[in-house]
Amino acid sequence: MALLADCHDAWDMPDRSGDPVDILDHDRQCAELLRRDFPADEELQVAGLVHDIGHVLVPGDDAGHGVHGRDAVRGLLGARVARLVELHVVAKRYLAATDSAHAAALSASSRRTLVAQGGPMTAAEIAAFESDPDFTAAITLRRADDTGKVVGLTVHALETWRPIVERVAAAADLAVAR
Ligand SMILES: [Fe+2]
Repeated sequence: MALLADCHDAWDMPDRSGDPVDILDHDRQCAELLRRDFPADEELQVAGLVHDIGHVLVPGDDAGHGVHGRDAVRGLLGARVARLVELHVVAKRYLAATDSAHAAALSASSRRTLVAQGGPMTAAEIAAFESDPDFTAAITLRRADDTGKVVGLTVHALETWRPIVERVAAAADLAVAR
């Protein structure tokens, strides 16, 4: 929660050439979209809430931000949340290859960073990703990621997410203990 609070006035691109809202606003918009559409999947919502913290952990490494975020949250929030955080970058490469409307609607900075992230998926990568058990959740998170960039949108205070984050962390703890 402290790291998320630090995402206020932190930006995905240090030179401010990226998303038009700061990472705290963007992550909360993304999480709220996921809560609206998938109220029962709190892991997915929390993955949305933390998906871009990699930008704060290692500023300027856009291509690696999914992996940095994954590694940072795995111990606390569990394997599935960590995986979804990593896959939000992978899902972008999938949609770039398979959804021309999505590809055309990417923001200018998202289009630029796609190249560093590996570019659109190949046919073999597409087939492998579609058989991933978290394929649908990863695509859902990515679509919320691309939508949750509205300047001036009012979102709930970060603290309102604390009980949800704590439930997901407790479930992750139980899974490790089992
Ligand atoms: Fe994002």
